[in-house]
Amino acid sequence: MRPVRISELQEEGTMSGSHERRTRGETIRVLVVDDEADIRELLDLTLVRMGLAADSADSVAGAKRLLSEGHYNLCLTDMRLPDGEGLDLVRHIGEHYHDLPVAVITAYGSMDNAVSALKAGAFDYLAKPVSLEQLRALVKSALELPTRGDSEPPTAAVSLQGESAAMRQARALIERVARSQAPVYISGESGSGKELAARLIHQLGGRREAAFVPVNCGAIPESLMESEFFGYRKGAFTGAEADRAGFFQAADGGTLFLDEVADLPLTMQVKLLRAIQEKRVRRIGATAEDAVDVRIICATHQNLTARVEQGQFRQDLFYRLNVIEIKMPTLRECSEDIPLLAQGILQRLSTVIGIPLPGLTPAAQAALVAYPFPGNVRELENVLERALALLTGGEVDIADLRLNPPIPGEEPSQGRAPLQDHLDQVEKQVILDALQQTHFNRTAAAKLLGITFRSLRYRMERLGIGE
Ligand SMILES: Nc1ncnc2c1ncn2[C@@H]1O[C@H](COP(=O)(O)OP(=O)(O)OP(=O)(O)O)[C@@H](O)[C@H]1O
Ligand SMILES: [Mg+2]
Repeated sequence: MRPVRISELQEEGTMSGSHERRTRGETIRVLVVDDEADIRELLDLTLVRMGLAADSADSVAGAKRLLSEGHYNLCLTDMRLPDGEGLDLVRHIGEHYHDLPVAVITAYGSMDNAVSALKAGAFDYLAKPVSLEQLRALVKSALELPTRGDSEPPTAAVSLQGESAAMRQARALIERVARSQAPVYISGESGSGKELAARLIHQLGGRREAAFVPVNCGAIPESLMESEFFGYRKGAFTGAEADRAGFFQAADGGTLFLDEVADLPLTMQVKLLRAIQEKRVRRIGATAEDAVDVRIICATHQNLTARVEQGQFRQDLFYRLNVIEIKMPTLRECSEDIPLLAQGILQRLSTVIGIPLPGLTPAAQAALVAYPFPGNVRELENVLERALALLTGGEVDIADLRLNPPIPGEEPSQGRAPLQDHLDQVEKQVILDALQQTHFNRTAAAKLLGITFRSLRYRMERLGIGE
């Protein structure tokens, strides 16, 4: 059964007041829980106008009874009810009706409530007074969630490989948060799969038909940030020859992925916080604000909590972004997955290059499993790519991997090879010089060195060069 879309519902004939309206033989049923009769009525009316069926309850007990009697596609609940908390209902639904998205209605300005509801598993929240626009957007994403029984439900296992406990756990969390609109903060070392995780959350959720907009916050010059994020109107400044959309408008209905979010300058942090709170943005040069419906996922390899403590990242923004944290495991924690991952990577690379799938000798495999991989899965990819580029036979052997430092057991007894230490020293000095020259602007330093931003970041990490 594929999900019915609101757009189809609205296109299909006139609004009928009937609770029994059916689309393709299926009634989309919403449960409204609120103790104020006025609000129940208003929501009921609005939902029915949207072509949905609505039932209502005025207490937690009443809601539980209705849930046990009928099938619902969405539940909207107030936070404070005569016989309990909306949060109890959120938990009850999470336990017993896994597929049912539940959204809470919070009093104006009570963000703490919204955040605790999202943490408890709520799909989303609506602030009072409920805006029609936001209600529509919410219903639309809720109904587009894949349900069990959809043909070929995508799963996180497809691209996030690994069977270790840590990887399974990360995958399960990704699948769970994909079903909600909660902001997600993805932490983890460089190359550990943070961006991959963000893409999966988007693909597995109700926003997958809309855009996934990745933004590298560290790579945008501060002076351009506002126009890049929020867009501008024609004539807003010299050079603004036509209206232009920003990242927020581009991600409307979809997901905005703020990568390297720790690199956002403080001035931009304030503007971002405002946009997230208000769900509205104003283009440069515009008088009015536009409503935007964007899910925010952010990531950084830095320690954001420490950045907050140092006063470099706003506490209030961190609180809003970090509703749910996903910690991507390091490859060291999943070393048992290395053979499987290596196999997958070799398969992909050999297809791209157009060579038969090469083998991996047992010694090479053991060396990979023992190697600490400071650059995680990306480094594993790089190691194998380099090995394939230089491969002469049909098998990748230990020497082809050129692991660095040498793998345990093979290293000279006095520790690290003196040549490698020397090369590391030289590399470190060259990078430090470039950073000094560019006042620690890593984007500019990478350019100066003729390497990518990523590569620079990775090298800095490997050589222990602080931010
Ligand atoms: N579990 C996994 N299974 C398969 N491929 C993976 C896995 N984790 C990461 N990768 C691959 O490793 C590479 C690095 O992943 P990604 O870019 O998501 O890392 P990242 O954490 O965002 O890195 P950075 O901090 O450098 O931005 C990508 O090619 C990704 O597809
Ligand atoms: Mg990344």
